[in-house]
Amino acid sequence: MEELVKQLAAAVYGSSSVDGVKIINGRAIITLVNVTDIPEKTAELRRQVENLDGIARASIIFTASKAFSGLRQPDDMWMVPGVKKIIAVASGKGGVGKSTTAVNLALAIANHDKKVALFDADIYGPSVPAMLGYEGMPPASLDGKTFEPFTDMDIRSMSVGTLIDKTQPLIWRGAKACGALQQLLCDTNWGDIDVMVIDMPPGTGDIQITLSQKVKMDGAVIVSTPQDIALIDAVKGINMFKRVNVPILGLVENMSYYICEKCGHRADIFGHDGARKTAENMGETFLGEIPLHYSIRQNADNGTPIVYAEPDSPYAQAYNQIAEKIITRLGI
Ligand SMILES: Nc1ncnc2c1ncn2[C@@H]1O[C@H](COP(=O)(O)OP(=O)(O)OP(=O)(O)O)[C@@H](O)[C@H]1O
Ligand SMILES: [Mg+2]
Repeated sequence: MEELVKQLAAAVYGSSSVDGVKIINGRAIITLVNVTDIPEKTAELRRQVENLDGIARASIIFTASKAFSGLRQPDDMWMVPGVKKIIAVASGKGGVGKSTTAVNLALAIANHDKKVALFDADIYGPSVPAMLGYEGMPPASLDGKTFEPFTDMDIRSMSVGTLIDKTQPLIWRGAKACGALQQLLCDTNWGDIDVMVIDMPPGTGDIQITLSQKVKMDGAVIVSTPQDIALIDAVKGINMFKRVNVPILGLVENMSYYICEKCGHRADIFGHDGARKTAENMGETFLGEIPLHYSIRQNADNGTPIVYAEPDSPYAQAYNQIAEKIITRLGI
């Protein structure tokens, strides 16, 4: 089967461009190297591959044979050409599901007929490449100066993870980390984008503050689990954005409750409603709750976020509803 997919890809993009084909759970991941996306060709290839028996979906990923080197010095304001609105998905605390929320919200906003970009700025634990299925692949560059975004599932994306070796501790600090972030953010050929979602590093440290000051952000979405300890940090996050004049779009309660698949019993593992109450107390908007569910985690790990993999599930609907509120708040 992989050989057949390879042949189809070679017929459309030329055999020297086909880097590899993997088939996982009915999803064909085709990696093309040193060529750029020609949307008509890509659509044709996708159609052919998805017509094969046993393949439900095709992901076509453009990559480059050589990694990019040389970081630039950070500038004063970081302009992102072509992008109309930029929102941050942030949390005061790590591990609350910020990346899962960012990726699914990006896909959900795209479901509302918007052109969406996702930028993974989490220098401490970039997880967008794994969640979108392009882990370990360097971004393509046609001119050696700018990057081509990854394009799949109707969104464009770029991750600081494409420059980082995950097995090594991160030694970038201060200006170096900022230079890398600015370069990836500002030197990627995003094209026309209605909304960019930025997956922020967790916490409220220097990098987070620098990002929220240098990038002209139109709003921040704060993700928290329902329990007190996470909410204390969520309040810190809200206050950080307020201090740099980034409007708070609202709070999302992640891992809000768990419904047993066997008996339907609902358990509030981390408590419930904490984020809603915190939002009320602070005069902020509560955007909605996302339950704790096995298939949210599994799909994120497999590189097919739930909004894409199970668009009709109640979990995808929960993200869609939050996306709708964000779109309304942004006035687009
Ligand atoms: N609603 C959910 N239901 C089930 N699993 C979830 C849910 N949200 C997140 N997870 C899982 O929890 C783990 C942490 O989520 P995620 O990586 O999105 O958190 P994060 O806040 O971005 O973490 P970090 O601070 O490390 O960047 C992942 O394995 C993810 O799949
Ligand atoms: Mg993360």
